[in-house]
Amino acid sequence: MSKDPVRVLVTGAAGQIGYAIVPMVARGVMLGPDQPVILHMLDIEPAAEALKGVQMELLDAAFPLLKGVVATTDVAEACKGVKVAVMVGGFPRKEGMERKDVMSRNVSIYKAQASALEKNAAQGCKVVVVANPANTNALILKEFAPSIPPDNITCLTRLDHNRALGQIAGRVKAQVSDVKNVIIWGNHSSTQYPDVNHATVRTSCNGEDRSVRELVADDPWLNGDFIATVQQRGAAIIKARKLSSALSAASSACDHIRDWVLGTPKGTWVSMGVYSDGSYGVPAGLIYSFPVTCDNGKWSIVQGLRIDDFSREKMDATAKELSEEKALAYSCLN
Ligand code: NAD
Ligand code: LMR
Repeated sequence: MSKDPVRVLVTGAAGQIGYAIVPMVARGVMLGPDQPVILHMLDIEPAAEALKGVQMELLDAAFPLLKGVVATTDVAEACKGVKVAVMVGGFPRKEGMERKDVMSRNVSIYKAQASALEKNAAQGCKVVVVANPANTNALILKEFAPSIPPDNITCLTRLDHNRALGQIAGRVKAQVSDVKNVIIWGNHSSTQYPDVNHATVRTSCNGEDRSVRELVADDPWLNGDFIATVQQRGAAIIKARKLSSALSAASSACDHIRDWVLGTPKGTWVSMGVYSDGSYGVPAGLIYSFPVTCDNGKWSIVQGLRIDDFSREKMDATAKELSEEKALAYSCLN
């Protein structure tokens, strides 16, 4: 018997990431190949015509899993009954801008959309915030939607996680699918800390997992260029494309929700921006990226990993930036 369709909201659906992600959702990349979906697409009035065009293309693509499309500029209508909300709507960073520069425009959107989600979404709705500053937008959404459980509000750092996997795979000449358990700690910004201390690569000769530190055997690269490349990858893409990343962001947002809903593979963790409970000495009350495993639709922070002095310093620096962003966000809202 076929499953009931799940309503999936994509805000900013007429934008770049929106255009890349809606066909992925309609093809089952996010929720699985046997899960029908109804897409809810929200954008603002100036983009209403473009949004209609996306709706027409979705119809033309004849996706078997797509059971309906709601395309609207009304936020309450967009949120009605959604079980998954992918919050992409906002203004992207342009070349030369830091994420803080987009703060004031974007946090006020998240404050306003928090109450629409709270009032209209289905119970248990899972939210991932993609729009920057992603962690702080998610925090504002959480604060202004107090009836949504904090665990249901997350932000996307899976793109950074996937970027780190890609860099390691390239360096050791392995398939990206053989690399696992990198960690992105902290903010989706240039202070994030991509950590390989617990990461492994499945070797082609005997299929054993070997530690990345042992295989790469180049600490200066792992502690230097590797970290900087992952931290600066968003800016490098903006420089090359004159637009921020879109296909990789869309694909990673699908990975984020898929693993959250369907579970992470045994022995594997992923990075998600989640509400800090104080684990690893990260201040509670921030949305901070941690290593998590997912089971039964719930994420849990991986506990007990050894943190050395180098990591501690970097984890604290990105937490400090998030505390400052939080204060700045509140000052923008006042
Ligand atoms: P874009 O400008 O192409 O699209 C954004 C869309 O949001 C536009 O269509 C715009 O009209 C719409 N929008 C603006 N205000 C809105 C509102 N109040 N409600 C609904 N829609 C609204 O931008 P993009 O390239 O798709 O990027 C979107 C966001 O995602 C940016 O903030 C960008 O910086 C961020 N981003 C995050 C990651 C990540 O890994 N977390 C990766 C890439 C991009
Ligand atoms: C990215 O990481 O590609 C995005 O967050 C875009 C940006 O502003 O860096």
